[in-house]
Amino acid sequence: MAEMHPDVESVVLSEEDIHRIVSRMGRQISEDYADKNPLIVAVLRGAFVFTADLMRAITVPCSVDFMAVSSYGDGVKSSGVVRIVKDLDTKVEGRHIIVAEDILDSGLTLSYLVKLLQSRKPASIEIAAFSIKDIPNHTPAVTPRYVGAHVPDAFVVGYGLDYAERYRNLPYVGILKPEAYS
Ligand code: PRP
Ligand code: MN
Ligand code: MG
Repeated sequence: MAEMHPDVESVVLSEEDIHRIVSRMGRQISEDYADKNPLIVAVLRGAFVFTADLMRAITVPCSVDFMAVSSYGDGVKSSGVVRIVKDLDTKVEGRHIIVAEDILDSGLTLSYLVKLLQSRKPASIEIAAFSIKDIPNHTPAVTPRYVGAHVPDAFVVGYGLDYAERYRNLPYVGILKPEAYS
């Protein structure tokens, strides 16, 4: 097990947890998408770590492409503004799309993206969210078909999740100490 980063107060999902979760998601997707050659759309930057693992847990033919969007900037809270920084290079008409996200918070990023991709006439579109933030009295704007784990309503980092572009490289998901962002 990796040593805990000094800015992390507790581990929410260990490397072992993550491996188990992503293997299960890969198995489910492989069953559902045999012969469908799904296009995995990774939402950069956060989803690149999860997507790399998810692809390797999928045992049926699939492709990958990337979209870069940003809703948080360098801050802690969602601005609600989604900015497309990089669009897909792949034509999605008639394709089975699986949007891979590292975390669903308000769901604004994904609801915007799904609407945008829907307008390009894919054969189907589903969401694979590695994690969902459990926010009391709040229902996310979209419902993912594949869900990895629920994480507490705290500032979580690691496994692709950043705070001000840091901590994405942590191999586990942990809660940031308040003094690391205040
Ligand atoms: C984070 C995260 C999700 C999104 C979730 O991305 O990776 O994409 O916010 O929040 P929401 O459900 O409230 O929209 P961010 O905008 O920080 O960009 P990043 O992936 O480059 O870190
Ligand atoms: Mn993101
Ligand atoms: Mg971010």
